Amino acid sequence: MTQNEMTSDDSTDPAAVGTTATPDPSGEPLVDQSIEVDGTDSSAQAGREQVIEARDLNVFYGDVQALQDITMSIPENQVTAMIGPSGCGKSTFLRSINRMNDLIDTARVDGELYFEGKNIYDDDVDPVALRRRIGMVFQHPNPFPKSIYDNVAYGLRIQDETENLDQKVETALKRAALWDEVEDQLDKSALDLSGGQQQRLCIARAIAVDPDVILMDEPASALDPIATSKIEDLIEELAEEFTVVIVTHNMQQAARISDKTAVFLTGGELVEFGDTQSIFENPEHQRVEDYITGKFG
Ligand SMILES: Nc1ncnc2c1ncn2[C@@H]1O[C@H](COP(=O)(O)OP(=O)(O)OP(=O)(O)O)[C@@H](O)[C@H]1O
Ligand SMILES: [Mg+2]
Repeated sequence: MTQNEMTSDDSTDPAAVGTTATPDPSGEPLVDQSIEVDGTDSSAQAGREQVIEARDLNVFYGDVQALQDITMSIPENQVTAMIGPSGCGKSTFLRSINRMNDLIDTARVDGELYFEGKNIYDDDVDPVALRRRIGMVFQHPNPFPKSIYDNVAYGLRIQDETENLDQKVETALKRAALWDEVEDQLDKSALDLSGGQQQRLCIARAIAVDPDVILMDEPASALDPIATSKIEDLIEELAEEFTVVIVTHNMQQAARISDKTAVFLTGGELVEFGDTQSIFENPEHQRVEDYITGKFG
C-alpha cells in the first residue's frame, strides 16, 4: 500500500460509504456493477456507431415541458456540442443521458433513450451503474475536499479497483493534461488548485474509471481564456478514446472542437442536428442561422 492509499480516509466521506445508490451530484459511479447490454432493444445497435440514441424523448418538470420529442443519435468517439439559448433544455437533455434527472423530484421522462442499444429507462437499469459508464463534468469545478490523489482515486476505490492504483491515478492525470503540474504534490488539497486545474482534475476523476461517455455541461465557462484553451485541447484529445457530449454557450468553442452540433431552441425543441461545419456554414433553418449569427439568444 502506498502512502497515498494509507492517507486516504474514505470512511469519513458519506458519499463513499458502502455500495448503495447514494445520490452524488458529481455523477461519479458509486457501485461496481455493470449494466447488462444485450443489444436486442434497438436496431441502432448495428455497427455500434451511435452510442446514444434518443427517440421522442420528452422531459417535464411538473407540468412544464422542458424537452419536446427529441430524436437524435450521438456518434461514438466524437465530440457532439449542444448549443441554444438559456432555458432551451440543454442541461436537461445532458442529465437525461445518465439519469441525473432522476435526482430531481419533479422531473419526468417520456420516450426512449438508448445507450449502446439498451433503453436506459428500462426498469432493470441501475442508474448508478449507468453513471459509471457515462460520467459527467459540471460548469463549476467540484473537486471533493480531499487530496488531488484521493479525488482521482475516488471512483476506483469505490469499485474496488485499487490494484496499481498509483499507476491508474497517474494515467488519469496524464490523460487530463494535469500530471506535469501536480506530480510532486499529489497529497495537496484539490481545493488549493486553480479553477482551470480543478476542472482538469474533475475530468481526471471522471475518466479514471474508464467510462464510455463523458458529458460536460459548460465545462469552461467559468475559466479564463488560457484555461479554456487547455480544456478545449483536452476535449479534442479525449474524443479519441471517449464519446464526448458538451453543452456550451460559446459558438466559437462549439465550432472549434465539435464534430456534430445540436441546436436547441426555446421551448425545448431540437431544431437542427448535423455536422458542425454544415450547421455553422450552411444551416437549414433560418432560426438556427439567426441564433448562431447572434441575432437572438
Ligand atoms: N430542477 C428544475 N425544476 C424545475 N424546472 C427546471 C429545473 N431545471 C430546469 N428547469 C426548467 O427546464 C427548462 C430547461 O432548463 P435547462 O436547465 O435544461 O436549460 P439550459 O438550456 O441548460 O439553460 P442554460 O443555458 O441557462 O443552462 C427551463 O425552463 C428551466 O426553467
Ligand atoms: Mg444549462
